[in-house]
Amino acid sequence: MAAFRPLFIFKISENTYRTIHESGTACLGSSQDRTGSPEGVIDIKVLFIGDIVGSTGRKALKASLPELKSKYNPHIIIANGENAASGRGITSAIANEFFNWGIHGITLGNHTWDNKDIFEFIDDEPRMIRPANFPPGTPGRGYTVIKANGKQLAIVNLQGRTFLPAIDCPFRTADDIVETLRQKHKCILVDFHAEATSEKIAMGWHLEGRASMVVGTHTHVQSNDDTILPGGTAYITDTGMVGSKEGILGMQRDAVMYKFKTQLPARFQVDEGKWQFHAVCVDMDEETGKARKIQKIRMYEDEWRMD
Ligand SMILES: [Fe+2]
Ligand SMILES: [Fe+2]
Repeated sequence: MAAFRPLFIFKISENTYRTIHESGTACLGSSQDRTGSPEGVIDIKVLFIGDIVGSTGRKALKASLPELKSKYNPHIIIANGENAASGRGITSAIANEFFNWGIHGITLGNHTWDNKDIFEFIDDEPRMIRPANFPPGTPGRGYTVIKANGKQLAIVNLQGRTFLPAIDCPFRTADDIVETLRQKHKCILVDFHAEATSEKIAMGWHLEGRASMVVGTHTHVQSNDDTILPGGTAYITDTGMVGSKEGILGMQRDAVMYKFKTQLPARFQVDEGKWQFHAVCVDMDEETGKARKIQKIRMYEDEWRMD
């Protein structure tokens, strides 16, 4: 684990300090240890990977996971797979490939139903969740508990309603699920799959102190606002994506530009250019469920750079 040089340390309450690191890591520590590693705290480290887009994203995932595992030593790895099959949904073969590579849980989003294969296995796959605020009776589940490497993490998937289909309220759904989960689980991850930055930031504050981490997906563009909210919730508006950096959101740019310019229908295909890999690694206190550190991860095929 690389050492990170603190740039600023400032007091936010009597016993709590916020530390901003050179690498972009945000930490919440105690007065006993301002680096965010108080003695005696039991850690759980979670790697959360943004939307994996098509064959390029899958190639990037396979290539990157061994190095990520050895660098960050995550106990649990969760990935958003809503675009894994040609940019549209996910198949059981792809999901099983992810599980074989070491992914422990998969979240989805507005592309959940794009590949009809999903209906054959989503009810029988407890490690995969789709947005919990889809209408009642929808196949699959909106939350689950992942157990791996002696750790437990409850994961919840929600979808926003701004610039996306009008589904049930994600805030009230979050209240119901998170309060139920908190009766048994301290460590809770919420993947909020949404378009509007305001809706995502609102969800971060809505679940502040109740979820260990609220991480955004869907825009495929990693945001630069990773932080630990005062109640101990790690937050980022969008985790980013895993797929071609030479396309547009992972798809071939010619078709996307054609559609913008002509307003005519166009068939989007996964771009096969050099990949980028976006994720976050969150360190949380297993006993309290409070996050202590969030670190953005950006890697590129041609540079193999890890921030
Ligand atoms: Fe999406
Ligand atoms: Fe996506």
